[in-house]
Amino acid sequence: MIDIKTPRELDSMRAASRAVASTLVLLRSLVKPGVSTAELDRFAGKHLRELGAAPAFLGYRGYPATLCVSINEEIVHGIPSEKRIVREGDIVSLDLGAICEGFYGDAALTAAAGKISGAARRLMEVTELSLARALEQVKPGARLGDVSNAVERCAAANGMAVVREFTGHGIGRRLHEEPSIPNFGRAGTGPVLKAGMTLAIEPMLCLGRPEIVIKNDGWTAVAADGSLAAHYEHTVAVTENGFEILSAAV
Ligand code: MF3
Ligand code: CO
Repeated sequence: MIDIKTPRELDSMRAASRAVASTLVLLRSLVKPGVSTAELDRFAGKHLRELGAAPAFLGYRGYPATLCVSINEEIVHGIPSEKRIVREGDIVSLDLGAICEGFYGDAALTAAAGKISGAARRLMEVTELSLARALEQVKPGARLGDVSNAVERCAAANGMAVVREFTGHGIGRRLHEEPSIPNFGRAGTGPVLKAGMTLAIEPMLCLGRPEIVIKNDGWTAVAADGSLAAHYEHTVAVTENGFEILSAAV
């Protein structure tokens, strides 16, 4: 069952999602050579609390931090550490979730540290574009497969690979609700979208092969072939006319 949110519940999700978005925008400017991923995590926790939001990932299935920081070939779920220092040319995926009034918001972006390669820049651009293409599909009456297929097509058209082991998800009273939202699939298939549904759409793209390996820490997912990966995510609501990006930076 895909939960439909009331306008009041959407207000709480907007608050959580905006707290995430404004924190991510500040974090993006802190991504510079020399910063440790633990510093980014501390900033995220402090800033969320100042906004009256609680961290959503901390303790989730035992995850030990507020923020996920995944560098270069790391795709998602990188655990912050004092020992992990960002270097010139890195691409740094930042994934953050928050809770306000019992409702969740979840978003991610990939940031550049100093000057990055042209290939890395293109990967970031195409991954962000694939999220935009997915969002364009979101409206009442559309099928979930339309959203999934839009990501897959955008990646393929630009010669990039889609990670298949992780998906987007419904979101609301819980971080992960129905439906699961793969970043590949057939248009015209899957559940029909209705106004009031809330979705976290999160393409993860690689420059090389899409197969993944989980590191020994039990969390960090990396591209098995060591190629670069990028990740963008928004929490969105289906509206009467289309969609609203709840995690838009304002
Ligand atoms: N955006 C990711 C997801 O929806 C982040 C979860 S990280 C975790 O799965 F630590 F909370 F697991
Ligand atoms: Co998510």
